[in-house]
Amino acid sequence: MHQQFSYEEVLSSAERYAWRVDDLIGGDKQLDFAKPFLPETLARTRELNFLDRDEQRNVNQIRSHGYLYTFGLVEEFILPFVLDHVRSRLDGNDYRVRAMLSFAAEEAKHIQLFKRFRGEFENGFGCAQSSGRPTRSPARCCRTIHCRSRW
Ligand SMILES: [Fe+2]
Repeated sequence: MHQQFSYEEVLSSAERYAWRVDDLIGGDKQLDFAKPFLPETLARTRELNFLDRDEQRNVNQIRSHGYLYTFGLVEEFILPFVLDHVRSRLDGNDYRVRAMLSFAAEEAKHIQLFKRFRGEFENGFGCAQSSGRPTRSPARCCRTIHCRSRW
């Protein structure tokens, strides 16, 4: 099935579903580290039956952190790609230019969203260094979990 959309329709839809990063994370919207972050079908931690439930949840959350980095990397790639693409098409269809720039703005927002989630994760996961400062290294988080676990 193939559908055709116009840039005007795409822009109109994007404007109708506008959202803000602060609507999703920050303030009273905190990550709940008592719960898994990924669905089991994605995290597949139940298969790790040598871990207890808490350890499986920790692995689930570590995997979610990996997804944050992966998707953040993709978003960081998309933004300059879209900007390069739209630059050569600034004259012509105004809706196309606005739709592409709106897309770029959304990608910049996604980058900020993933960074905010990563910051919340790293502050709340319990990967503090001995100085009490939170670490920003996923590898260090994994080492901390590894040292605390029985496996
Ligand atoms: Fe995106």
